[in-house]
Amino acid sequence: MISTLAREPYPEWSHGITMPVANRADFGRRPMVGGHDLHRSELFTDAALIDLLDHVPRDQVHALTMGGDLTRPQDNRLALHDGVSGADLLRAVRAGRLWLNITRVDRADARYRRLVDQLYSDLTGQVGGFAPDSSQATLLVSSPHALVYYHVDGPATVLWHLRGRKRVWVYPALDARYATREALEDIFAGVRHEYLPFDPSFDDTATVFDLEPGQWLAWAQNAPHRVSNLDSLNVSLSTEHFTRHSRRRARVYAANRYLRVRWGLANLSVRESGPAALMKAVVHRLARQAGVDPAQTKRHVATLRVDPDAPDGVTALDPQTTPVRALA
Ligand SMILES: [Fe+2]
Repeated sequence: MISTLAREPYPEWSHGITMPVANRADFGRRPMVGGHDLHRSELFTDAALIDLLDHVPRDQVHALTMGGDLTRPQDNRLALHDGVSGADLLRAVRAGRLWLNITRVDRADARYRRLVDQLYSDLTGQVGGFAPDSSQATLLVSSPHALVYYHVDGPATVLWHLRGRKRVWVYPALDARYATREALEDIFAGVRHEYLPFDPSFDDTATVFDLEPGQWLAWAQNAPHRVSNLDSLNVSLSTEHFTRHSRRRARVYAANRYLRVRWGLANLSVRESGPAALMKAVVHRLARQAGVDPAQTKRHVATLRVDPDAPDGVTALDPQTTPVRALA
């Protein structure tokens, strides 16, 4: 169920969300832009972000820098930030080339949880048959001109844009040209990062959006996408939601990976319902319980430290003197 917190009346700045009336049935099936007014909330000002960064458990905050070549996601590097104040983190992002992911912000502060509950209450009220049973949120704070490499997320997501301007490219979902079935299986199994090989010719079929504060963007679950910030500091809330349908898909892909890697069974059906899907999910669950699923959790190793006075907002760690820490 969505959080059990009581649904509070909207604060006075809010009028709820809007979506294109004629296309409501496309929600979660095709790229769709709508409106919101979260950007008027006090929860996303500089002062609120600094306060949040100073109070949220720091292992929930991931700082990543990046290169400029869209085909080199390996240039995405993790930076440590323990001991760096919230104000300095924000200063580093504003002047550098960084992306801060404040994960599970809905757990860190009940005010964000209530906001996410309001958003999903509005979505479920407007989209017939949309019935998420849980949701979670990550707050994204990123530098002018920062980018997110081409990737696929396992869960279904909605991007609520709050500050700055960004361009988002969305590509066809569940099409092997853009994301192989094996890659998607590995992502659902949690054994690889979400980045995928990118070919610039993919852009010929992308749907491109320039997002302004006060707009939200949704797309089909597992549609690959990439993001480039335009010329300003960006703040967005990324929400993930889970439905009976999305959980079934996750189970089928993860089970297919297990059967492929452990038993050499390739090209298994991706049908998400029916006896075969159920059987595979049961076999996979038993394998996990028996400890014979060879899946290994992905890991990021930090090679940098956030430094607001460095040109890109980061400096290299000295491997001789700094213990390397990994982000699971
Ligand atoms: Fe994403």
